[in-house]
Amino acid sequence: MERCNDDARKGKKIVIAVDGFSSCGKSTFAKAIAARLGYIFIDTGAMYRAVTLYALDHGAIRSGMVDEEAVAALLKDIEITFRFNPERGASDIYVNGDLAEGRIRTIEVSNCVSRVSSIREVREKLVAMQQRMGRDRGVVMDGRDIGTVVFPDAEMKIFMTADPKVRAERRYAELRAKGDEVSMEEVLENVVSRDRADMNRAISPLRQAPDAVVLDNSRMSVDEQMAWFMERYEKMA
Ligand code: DC
Repeated sequence: MERCNDDARKGKKIVIAVDGFSSCGKSTFAKAIAARLGYIFIDTGAMYRAVTLYALDHGAIRSGMVDEEAVAALLKDIEITFRFNPERGASDIYVNGDLAEGRIRTIEVSNCVSRVSSIREVREKLVAMQQRMGRDRGVVMDGRDIGTVVFPDAEMKIFMTADPKVRAERRYAELRAKGDEVSMEEVLENVVSRDRADMNRAISPLRQAPDAVVLDNSRMSVDEQMAWFMERYEKMA
């Protein structure tokens, strides 16, 4: 069922849930939609990354081993906030007042974030925060469980996917551009293992909501994706 074909919008601000696999370009797409509609864009993956970074910095992850109890115990000390950065046209994430935007996107964080995001206490804290942030609608939220758990009543749900090789190539280019000395094999392995971990975890696994529309952007430019979106969005008016 294409939920966005019905008349749910009627001129009111809505919640747009963008879920899907890692490195699909969800954030780029969600950010572009938010800018177009004047909505707030919320990158929920950044929130799981921020907790992972804090756990790395505070000894709850050592040599790639995640101590789940230690991560859960740290949660009370972590305050996550977003501040709009006009240069990026999106919000930067801060952990306890410190800018964390660049540091959350390293391969070290990427390698541990799936484990951290499978911890019940972490999900409970971040889901509650996300629900508060979208309480007044007018948000585009990207993640894995937005249309299924965070906002099961989202008026529009998009499930994004793309060929794993295409996704790894995109992530590889991004990391190399930042000077990260990663190999293509390492990035592809990270993409594939995160897909597996995200789909198979016990709590809130990555699933396509039954009322989500699928967007496979393997061979689509950002402009083509926007055109795809606007066609559906305008039908809701
Ligand atoms: O979108 P991303 O790659 O930055 O997300 C980082 C990790 O966080 C990803 O491996 C899965 C997890 N995640 C999640 O479990 N639930 C969300 N709503 C968003 C991200």
